[in-house]
Amino acid sequence: MLNIIICGAPGCGKGTQSDLLVNKYKLEHLSTGDLLRKEIAKKSELGLIADSYISNGNLVPDAMIIDILSKAINEQAEGVKGVILDGFPRTVAQAEALEVMLKKVNKEVSVLLDLTVDNDELINRLLKRGETSGRSDDNLETIKKRLEIYEIKTAPVSDFYKKINKYASINGMGSIEEIFERIAAVIDSKRQ
Ligand code: AP5
Ligand code: MG
Repeated sequence: MLNIIICGAPGCGKGTQSDLLVNKYKLEHLSTGDLLRKEIAKKSELGLIADSYISNGNLVPDAMIIDILSKAINEQAEGVKGVILDGFPRTVAQAEALEVMLKKVNKEVSVLLDLTVDNDELINRLLKRGETSGRSDDNLETIKKRLEIYEIKTAPVSDFYKKINKYASINGMGSIEEIFERIAAVIDSKRQ
């Protein structure tokens, strides 16, 4: 069973690489950002609350997102080969909660893949996507805020996984295919 966390700053390529990983390793993709955007599109109560955080570049509260993710993990179909967690955990409190959640169902994280990309490149990618994405957080002001929040709240999550020897840094600069090869090499080494 492969339970992979794909993490890194906004625009580092989590979603793009997750799509390729799903295809190659037949994993289920769980993106907390996508789950929240679905709620926003439905205009549900949860979506309205989430939108107020997302469009300002803030993280939604830990309790809210932990609840969403634990439901998704418990609803997982029998026989899946594993999961890619994209955008979760984003705080140390979320990482601790994930350990507890997975232990309950006799599972564990295989590895956290940390995609590292220069800030200028992140901003360019997100501004370009913002021309067509319709995402309320793809504008320069909110992108800068997201990058700040990432440094303060999410970067420390790496230390959590370094301490338990489940951390892998991946150079996220270059073509999508090159980056995928780097990721696949790490995953294949974990499967042996
Ligand atoms: P989320 O949806 O997770 O957004 P994010 O982390 O800001 O990251 P993005 O989805 O913008 O980027 P990505 O890394 O997926 O890159 P992508 O592949 O799209 O979260 C959004 C918000 O939801 C958060 O700010 C927060 O408010 C809330 N939230 C979500 N999870 C939460 C949690 N756990 N706790 C609390 N709040 C939470 O690529 C970006 C662009 O670059 C694309 O256009 C792509 O085509 C392009 N691209 C990709 N790779 C390359 C490449 N190699 N070269 C050139 N272009 C590339
Ligand atoms: Mg994404």
